[in-house]
Amino acid sequence: MTRGGRREATYEAPPNIALVKYWGLRDRALAIPFNSSISVTLDRFRSRTTVRFASELAHDLVELNGAPATGGPRESVVRFLDRVRELAGTTDRAEVRSENNFPTASGLASSASGFAALAGASTAALGLRMSGRKLSQLARFGSGSASRSVFGGFVEWQAGHRPDGRDCFARPLFGPDHWPALVDVVLIVAGAPVKAVRSEDAMQSTVATSPNYARRLVELPGRIRRVRAAIRDQAAVRLFPLLMEECDSFREVCETTQPSLDYLTTTSRALLGEVRAINREAGRPVAGYTHDAGAHLHVFTLERDAATVRRRLAKTPGVERTLLLHAGPGAHLVE
Ligand code: PMV
Repeated sequence: MTRGGRREATYEAPPNIALVKYWGLRDRALAIPFNSSISVTLDRFRSRTTVRFASELAHDLVELNGAPATGGPRESVVRFLDRVRELAGTTDRAEVRSENNFPTASGLASSASGFAALAGASTAALGLRMSGRKLSQLARFGSGSASRSVFGGFVEWQAGHRPDGRDCFARPLFGPDHWPALVDVVLIVAGAPVKAVRSEDAMQSTVATSPNYARRLVELPGRIRRVRAAIRDQAAVRLFPLLMEECDSFREVCETTQPSLDYLTTTSRALLGEVRAINREAGRPVAGYTHDAGAHLHVFTLERDAATVRRRLAKTPGVERTLLLHAGPGAHLVE
């Protein structure tokens, strides 16, 4: 398809935050998770990735945020490109340039936006026709959460049941304009440790060693149904407690992993307590917290409470910066 020629494409993709977490692969080779997950695709931030395939290149050249990538990050991009080359029937090497318009250390998942953008750009560059579903199925091989960044708004990555993974893909639940009053207050905490173990390895160690993992898997289908319904009904009073229940369950399986996975700092823990206090004092669920495998917090609330919640949480010692995000559009080709 690219014989002798050069093909180039640029794609943009946003990060997402999981409301129900993906944590554990049932089939590692096929990147099939144990459970379905639900996320919100975030506005304002994006990875922008350009891929150019050229027959004269001897190696893949990978540049991330203006610097040549080496080691693990480069290898995961090359492995991903190998998969795309196989799909397209080409051996041409590629030049990949990717940039985030958000600081990589901000705790906004750059692997999700990065691999969704890489999936889009590399397949477009080779002229492969990809539906959103197919793109999500490809993106998950780079990073599971990337499968969800293909779509905007509220997205479900369904685990499926088939051993071959054909029913494992992400799909949009509700568009980015479904619930405009829902706000994500992101709290960037100081001194967040750099991840010691890659998520992909950490989650498999949870699967193998956490005594609470099996119970989590039993609880999840019911929680997924309730989260989906709360979003559908724009029912903040149902969604916020569910978010916290899910986040606590995720944290519990991490902490009971051997060796224990502890992603939070003293500040993150203080923020969890502060959100609980806000709800207790108001006598209603004003906000709901969640976090990924990192120390920064995402606190969902409604537009009318956002300024108060943000001001109060920003006072917690160790909070470096706050951001106000909403649901946004998914990955797209840049003409
Ligand atoms: O997509 P990965 O391999 O970086 O793993 C993501 C894991 C969590 O962010 C903790 C949960 C999720 O569903 O995004």
